[in-house]
Amino acid sequence: MNTIEASLRNVTLLRDLVPYVVATPSNLPALDLTPFGVPAAQHIDPTKMASADFLDILHRLDGLTFGPEGMPMPKWVFFDCAEVPGAIYGLARPASTLWPAARELFAVPASYDGLVPLSMYIAIPMQRFGAWFGHNLASAAPALRDAGLEDVDLRGLGSVTKALGLKCFGVRDFYGATQWTSKALFIHVKFGPLNLSTAWTPAHSELETLTYGFEVTDDKLRASVGDRRVIIDRPQPTLWLDAHDPQQMQDLQARIEAGQAFCIPSAPKHEGGRIHVPVTKI
Ligand SMILES: CC(C)(COP(=O)(O)OP(=O)(O)OC[C@H]1O[C@@H](n2cnc3c(N)ncnc32)[C@H](O)[C@@H]1OP(=O)(O)O)[C@@H](O)C(=O)NCCC(=O)NCCS
Repeated sequence: MNTIEASLRNVTLLRDLVPYVVATPSNLPALDLTPFGVPAAQHIDPTKMASADFLDILHRLDGLTFGPEGMPMPKWVFFDCAEVPGAIYGLARPASTLWPAARELFAVPASYDGLVPLSMYIAIPMQRFGAWFGHNLASAAPALRDAGLEDVDLRGLGSVTKALGLKCFGVRDFYGATQWTSKALFIHVKFGPLNLSTAWTPAHSELETLTYGFEVTDDKLRASVGDRRVIIDRPQPTLWLDAHDPQQMQDLQARIEAGQAFCIPSAPKHEGGRIHVPVTKI
């Protein structure tokens, strides 16, 4: 079976939500608009006035998810660094079927009857063919749970969005950056071990940022959405990095700069306020 449905842990996600793509007319033809056979029915052109409401709500999704992380995007960054050079893939719900609490959370205008994006994945192509940098992964699922929408099953929304986004963009070599304390690491490691390029990143506004990468394969994408038939090799950790310990990050960074190679092989451990991330010397 070529579709991804057989791999999905939460089968209701793709049944209830509408995939969309934001891309300029010149970037659109380079994208796979039926990743794993799932049609991205809605194409949003950021150069058109008619896209304004959708893109405003998308910007609101960024504020709802990255605002609490202290990294909301100004709208010009959205345009200059995402919509024009790269692409955005996500899952949405028609405003007419949106739950009232969600409508309020997203401040959807009363007159708006288009799609309301509940997730987005943004990546930007790099210089080398097939290499992309992940710029943003956002899922409204946690915010909707906090708003009291506990009956709505959006489990796996972030993971499915990243997997289908990577397939849609045709990513072969993936690079991304995140913080050691980020819960997004639970998603990123679903794609397999993450090779570390930085462990302490003074060039970033969050110094405690790690930069990672992995080769993208269809099997890894299937594994990330819950396909237990895919077996990913995960080496045992050499050390557990305390996600609140800058010294450990700087020591690891010094070893990377000295030429040693490391990966994050599997999920972090969040226990009683402490976060430890496994690291393996390769
Ligand atoms: C990070 C984010 C995208 C997650 O979205 P989501 O829809 O909840 O993601 P998913 O449901 O696909 O996956 C979350 C995973 O984390 C796991 N998880 C979260 N907290 C956990 C914890 N404390 N212990 C163990 N697992 C945990 C969940 O169990 C789930 O894994 P599972 O599918 O194996 O059960 C969302 O919270 C978000 O938008 N955050 C703000 C922006 C951000 O930080 N983006 C990432 C930047 S790199």
